[in-house]
Amino acid sequence: MHRDDELPLIMALDLDTLADARKTLNLVRGKLDYVKIGPRLFALGGVHFVKEMVDYGFKVFLDLKLHDIPNTIRLAVEAFGGIGLWSLTLHAAGGRRMLEEAVAARDRMGSSMKLFGISVLTSFNEEVWSEATPGCPMEEALRQRAWLCDDSGLDGVVCSPLDLPVIKDRVRPGLLKVVPGVRLTSLGDDQTRIATPCQAIKNGADYVVMGRPIYKADDIESAMNVIGDSIREGLKG
Ligand code: C5P
Repeated sequence: MHRDDELPLIMALDLDTLADARKTLNLVRGKLDYVKIGPRLFALGGVHFVKEMVDYGFKVFLDLKLHDIPNTIRLAVEAFGGIGLWSLTLHAAGGRRMLEEAVAARDRMGSSMKLFGISVLTSFNEEVWSEATPGCPMEEALRQRAWLCDDSGLDGVVCSPLDLPVIKDRVRPGLLKVVPGVRLTSLGDDQTRIATPCQAIKNGADYVVMGRPIYKADDIESAMNVIGDSIREGLKG
């Protein structure tokens, strides 16, 4: 669980350049504790940029959704475990051995980096899912993958806000739920399984992940205020 004085909001920095990301963060400084770095900014700025964010005081969520054979994942986790990350994502589709190797590698080195498993991408709907994964209902995969993340010893699972009630009875209450696909109002974009920050928190999200609703807002500071109010409303229960 996040600290009481922190807003459980992770801002996804899916911006074009490192300079754009720095500019946006200057506007939200003091209102935000967590940032998510994805493949683009990691490709541009690498570990150097991660360390810059850590030095600014942000907790960095590196969302690379690693999915590979267990040995390759072990080697990667050993390298990522030493760069000051708050958390790293792995894809639950990689299976138990991959997930367990990651946890063991992290624990062996005494790193505090959290490991979160991706269940089913929030951009999937049934049609897109069944095209890529025929013969398995999306909801069944979601429940099974959430359970697998928990049973393999990960710290948390990433899922859509609408998935939270579906996985609730399959995972222990302490498994952190990190929830993208959060919108104040629909933007008509690629996120299909969405809810408001308030609804996501009420449904059991420990952290909400939001990118475009913040960095594409006409007024970033006021968007942050509205999102903060919605999260706080959700925290009231
Ligand atoms: O801009 P938006 O609010 O849609 O950003 C959501 C972020 O969460 C993106 O960076 C996306 O890669 C990430 N994410 C997601 N669905 C998942 C896991 C991560 O949307 N299942």
